[in-house]
Amino acid sequence: MTKKTDRKIKITGTGMYVPDKILTNADLEKMVDTSDEWIVTRTGIRERRIAAKDQATSDLGIIAARRALRSARLEPQDIDVIIVATHTPDHYFPATACLVQAGLKAGLVPAFDVIGGCTGFLYGLILAEGLIFSGAAKRALVIGAEMLTRITNWEDRNTCVLFGDGAGAVVVEESKDDSGMLSHFWQADGNLGPLLIMPAGGSKLPACHDTVAKRQHTLHMKGNEVFKHAVKRMTEAGDEAMKRAGIKKDAVDWLIPHQANMRIIEATGERLGIPRERVYVNIHRYGNVSVACIPIALDELNQSGQLKKGTVALLDAFGAGFTWAAVVLRW
Ligand code: ACO
Repeated sequence: MTKKTDRKIKITGTGMYVPDKILTNADLEKMVDTSDEWIVTRTGIRERRIAAKDQATSDLGIIAARRALRSARLEPQDIDVIIVATHTPDHYFPATACLVQAGLKAGLVPAFDVIGGCTGFLYGLILAEGLIFSGAAKRALVIGAEMLTRITNWEDRNTCVLFGDGAGAVVVEESKDDSGMLSHFWQADGNLGPLLIMPAGGSKLPACHDTVAKRQHTLHMKGNEVFKHAVKRMTEAGDEAMKRAGIKKDAVDWLIPHQANMRIIEATGERLGIPRERVYVNIHRYGNVSVACIPIALDELNQSGQLKKGTVALLDAFGAGFTWAAVVLRW
């Protein structure tokens, strides 16, 4: 589905939180057969954040949400829907969004989680637009909060070097001027689900001694397959979102891609024709924070004054499902 009307939603506040603990590539060298050189050349990652033992995903999301509310100059009671994108909820149920609602002391507003792979935050943003345009909500809090290190197999060098913990949040309202979300494009292909999956813990393979022994409660990934699809789909999504917004690549001030691998980021930027200096990268500091990558990047750019009135950003993501989406924003 496309979207191009005069009505637009806009982001009126951003916030982020990453835990204090840093795990460097040198630390990982002591845990598995890997090297700083391999990790940096193959992924671009130098360090990642690891949540404290007593932190859960909602704790990360609540801090990021409070910061986003402060940046929008709003109180928790001003929000009328809460959407949390995550694959690492505090519990299977209740939804992490409900725990965030309680933690923020927000009103008794609807709150629900979205499982959309690393694309989940963009899915949440697109959903928020639908809710606002339908009249179901005026102000939405959209959060990407993730603790993939809790579902990481720390003995598998293929995956354990990639992920980190963190959260980002945005406040979304209807725009009253020409700024806002100019277009979106979102798709999924469930046929490719097994290439990136946590096999056990759901109805298909309920938790039991055997699933734990086989480490089926951790993330399993065919890395190079994911890589190929990610570049192809993020390029398609970025191109389509620009087309739907009626803009050309030269109008994009910032490409903000999902931060899964530096080589995916570079290849996508090259294929979209967006020069490296206009591609936002923070993977070296946080690794792949899944759904939190894009809202963290938005907050870093916003807080550092790099999103000025009129700045155009292309947000572009790919993840488990497979899912992919892109959004064009004019700040
Ligand atoms: N240290 C040293 N060697 C390693 C490591 C490591 N940490 N990991 C793998 N290797 C080895 C492999 O064993 C292999 O060795 P072999 O040739 O002797 O068999 C060699 O390095 C090459 O392995 P590949 O998997 O082919 O390496 P590749 O260049 O594809 O990089 C990576 C792997 C980084 C995982 C890459 O494929 C990737 O980034 N894929 C996409 C990840 C992604 O986008 N995930 C999606 C998001 S997650 C989500 O949605 C929840």
